[in-house]
This record gives sequence, structure tokens and C-alpha cells, in this order.
Amino acid sequence: MTERALARVDLAAVERNCARLRRSLTGGAELCAVVKADGYGHGAVRCAGAALAGGATRLAVATAREAAELREAHPEASLLTMGALAPDEVDVALGARSDVAVWRAESLALISARARATGRPASVHVKHDSGMGRLGNRDAAEVLGLVEAAAEDPDLELTGVWTHLATADEPESGFLTTQLEAFAEVAAATRERHPGVLLHAANSAATIAEPDSHYDMVRCGIAVYGLDPFGEDAAARDLEPALSLHSYVADVKLFEPGDSAGYGRTWRAAEPTWVGVLPIGYGDGVRRGLSNNAEVLVGGRRRPLVGTVSMDNVTVDLGPETETSPGDPAVLIGAQGSERVSAEELASRLQTINYEVTCGISSRVPREYE
Ligand SMILES: Cc1ncc(COP(=O)(O)O)c(C=O)c1O
Repeated sequence: MTERALARVDLAAVERNCARLRRSLTGGAELCAVVKADGYGHGAVRCAGAALAGGATRLAVATAREAAELREAHPEASLLTMGALAPDEVDVALGARSDVAVWRAESLALISARARATGRPASVHVKHDSGMGRLGNRDAAEVLGLVEAAAEDPDLELTGVWTHLATADEPESGFLTTQLEAFAEVAAATRERHPGVLLHAANSAATIAEPDSHYDMVRCGIAVYGLDPFGEDAAARDLEPALSLHSYVADVKLFEPGDSAGYGRTWRAAEPTWVGVLPIGYGDGVRRGLSNNAEVLVGGRRRPLVGTVSMDNVTVDLGPETETSPGDPAVLIGAQGSERVSAEELASRLQTINYEVTCGISSRVPREYE
């Protein structure tokens, strides 16, 4: 069957990306593969399996539900839920045997109480807000107080101390150094009293750009999927994009000068030309901002996306002469022949980041794994 919209995910590429990341780590650091938001739109469960095969030793998600979903598929994997947890979500995360993040005494007490009720100590990672200004405790002394409280609590296991970096993808900003310096103090004090605790700070960009950030573990998301954390050319960093997005030409029709395509008549043919209709649209995650602002691969060539992106369809200008006929394949992300459209290219056209492009591919689009 021809799928109207299909995302193909190359699991071997995920595995190779992880193997490469792992080889680049300093000091024996572990690779934690970040598979939140359904593996950045690629499919969390299958990508987690590929990441583990590629040498990742841990998996991270944002939410308790994500942890529960992963736990069913990967009974032995080490999981970390990185996000904030409401009391009920603490139970779900602990039920999934996931490590959890903590940065306030109140939530440490809650996690401890819930762990006692389950009869199994909860593994916690105390989070330092070294400058991200989001989750985490800004006060280094309070962070170290929580570290001691967790270490002493029989219902808790102090597993990690960590932070998250705000500007690792902006090499010209000095803020990465500022954050790493702030975290270094917390890290050194923790290391001295609790040598076995996992210290971690780096995302993909820091993992690639700043070996000093590797500590005991790096948390890589975007690079696992072969996308460039700097929004540039992933291939130049030896990363292989795992996802491609496919549709097909459902109809081809000749437009006369002045004929228009799509809502609002935002594009009109200037001369006689053939227009292909692809049954994929913003309901699938092809953002409306790509209206008259993208190229789609058909017949191995780049063809302009013309007219407004609808919920279920887009139109492409195939030119005054075409060999394209209904049923021909079309590629919106990925390669066809020698041409390639990257998630980074679409992100740049949409003035966003590659993360949002793949996360935005909707659940209506089946994922096919190869
Ligand atoms: C706390 C945390 N760590 C690590 C990551 C992975 O970041 P990246 O996908 O840039 O590697 C994320 C993703 O946003 C995150 O929120």
C-alpha cells in the first residue's frame, strides 16, 4: 500500500550515531540517550533499543508517562525522568523504576515518602540550576544540602547530581563557561563526599563542542537522531539523519496562467505548468509556514511547494514539462537521487530549530522502521 504520509526511521543510523558519540566521550563517560517526546518524533521505544545497541547505557525522558511506556518495552534499562513531577506522577515514575530529578526539600520528602510506601528506595538526581533559569535549584549550598539529605535517607538512593546548559549551541557565547564553572563547584564538593555519584551536564552540543562538560555521563538527544545541534550540516559532524518523510503524487494537472492552487489563492501560475498534489499537510506536521516556502523532492529534483499548505494536502510546481505521473514518490525530508532536504533546511525556512521539525510530525503519520 502507498502511504499518503510516512516517516521512515533508520534504526541502524541511530545505532551508529550513538556509537560515534560514545567513542568521542572523555574519561569513560556514559552515554544517556534522550528519547523524550516520542524520541523527538522518531519513536521512543524503537529508538531507545537502537541507542542501547549503539552503546548508550541509560535513557532519559521528560515525563512519568514516557518512563512508563519505555519501561514496558525495556525492562532492564536505566531510566531517568528529567522533568517536574506532580505527586501522582511521582508514583508513575517510581512505578516505572525510573530515577527522578529533585531540587527542592519538599519534593525530596515527597519522593522519599512515596518510595517508602512502595518498599523500594527511589534513585534521585539532585539538579543544580547553574544558569538555565528553569528547573533546578540556583543555590549551590542548598543543592549540596539536598545531596546530603538524599544520601542519608534510607528511602532514597543518591544517584546523580546534574545541571542543564542554556547556550552550548552558541559557541560565541561565554555563558557555557559561566555555567560549567558554577557547576564545577557543586560537582567537586559532591565528588569529594560521594565519589560514586554520577555527575552530568552535557547535551548534544556540549558533548560535541566541550569535552570538559562530559563528566560521568552526557545526555544526548538531537545528535542521537543524526540531527545537528548547531542547526548546520549534520554530515559535517559525522551524524546520519535517521528520519525521512515521504508522500506521493496523488494527482497531476495542467495549470494555465492565472490558475491558483490552494486556500487563499496565494500562488498563481505565471505560465502553463504542471502541478502535483501530495496528500500530506499540516495535520501531518508539514507546517503552514512552508506555504510557498519549501522545496519537495519529486523525480529526484527539487520542486517548489506552491500555494498554501492545507491540513491534508500540499501542491508542488512540476514545471512546464514533466514526466511525473500519479503514484510517483515524493520526499519532504530526506534524500531522493542526489538531492536532499534536511530537517535543518526546513527549520531555517520556518525560523525554528530541527528539534521542532521532527517533534512536529504528527501521530497521524505512521513510522516505518528499517
Ligand atoms: C534536561 C535535558 N537534558 C538533555 C537534553 C538533550 O538535549 P539535546 O537534544 O540538545 O542533546 C534535553 C533536551 O532538551 C534536556 O531537556
